[in-house]
Amino acid sequence: MNTRKLRNIEVSEVGMGCMAFSHGYGKIPPERYSIQAIRNAFEHGCTFFDTAEVYGPNLSPMHRGHNEKILGKAFAGIRDQVVIATKVMPHGGLGHNAYQTLRKHLDGSLARLQTDYVDVYYIHRSSAVSIEDAAQAMGRLIDEGLIRGWGLSQVDVDVIERAQRVTPLAAIQNIYSMVERDSEDFIIPYCMEHNIGFVPFSPIASGLLSGKITTTTKFERHDDVRNWVPQLRRENIAGNQPIIDVLAHFASLKGATSAQISLAWMLHKWPNVVPIPGSKNKERIVENLDAAHVELTDQGFAQLEDALNQCIVYGHRGLGGF
Ligand SMILES: NC(=O)c1ccc[n+]([C@@H]2O[C@H](COP(=O)([O-])OP(=O)(O)OC[C@H]3O[C@@H](n4cnc5c(N)ncnc54)[C@H](OP(=O)(O)O)[C@@H]3O)[C@@H](O)[C@H]2O)c1
Repeated sequence: MNTRKLRNIEVSEVGMGCMAFSHGYGKIPPERYSIQAIRNAFEHGCTFFDTAEVYGPNLSPMHRGHNEKILGKAFAGIRDQVVIATKVMPHGGLGHNAYQTLRKHLDGSLARLQTDYVDVYYIHRSSAVSIEDAAQAMGRLIDEGLIRGWGLSQVDVDVIERAQRVTPLAAIQNIYSMVERDSEDFIIPYCMEHNIGFVPFSPIASGLLSGKITTTTKFERHDDVRNWVPQLRRENIAGNQPIIDVLAHFASLKGATSAQISLAWMLHKWPNVVPIPGSKNKERIVENLDAAHVELTDQGFAQLEDALNQCIVYGHRGLGGF
């Protein structure tokens, strides 16, 4: 697979979101299956893996690090060949010593990931933290070799600029897909200009853009975000059908799947974008990685973009969302 850069950090152009092995999409698979699925993705060319300290069943503090521990086991013997991105969630802010607070969280992640450095260390949500203090502390962690780069998630240009002035960022991880395009006007172009990677989360809109979800699809009852993703409300699934139809049309033209077209679209559109589709299914993980091999021509891309721009999107999570 081709690679892209998050500042100085080289990654496969499609990464893998590992959250659903621990949280967010209902029942989690047995650990052994999750480890195999991650190894299988690596053998298929994926070198970029996304996790967070809070990813555990029901996001319960009791299960903190559940997902990181799975990655730690999956990467035994191949740590130097993969790029691990994890996130810190300092619920109560960074206190009077941002470095000490971040260092404590980072030490926990390093132990669970069985490594002595993290490649990309994101602040998961920044509303409770002083951005300048966080940026300074992240700079020190970089100098100490404990992280290679740092990032922010769900932030606007103002916050990115303030952070960037103190310690240059490696990556921004915001929600972005064909139905969540808030980052297009200013954020992705700013990142391009400043050599910052842009890592879209929920790039296939929690499954909507695969075309496999219909108005009769039942989501799981516990720990399943699809119960409150606005585009997946029954009436909005129906409203968004024209977008699903556009994708199905282009998928049949290219001999690809709809999920692959939705990923190939963003790869074609932006040179600094590296999506991290999430799945707890081994085969669909490989399908998503193979989006890197679906080549859209400039003309095909323009037709797709045009068709999308004529569709209304029903439901919006936005940057202020969960
Ligand atoms: N920074 C943040 O605040 C934040 C928030 C959310 C997520 N994330 C990260 O972003 C990653 C991806 O986001 P996400 O998982 O929310 O959304 P997503 O990748 O847009 O969609 C995941 C959903 O789509 C389904 N799916 C995936 N590929 C499919 C395919 N090819 N065909 C049919 N269905 C498919 C999955 O079902 P199956 O599992 O059944 O395949 C799952 O229900 C997460 O794993 C996590 O690492 C970060």
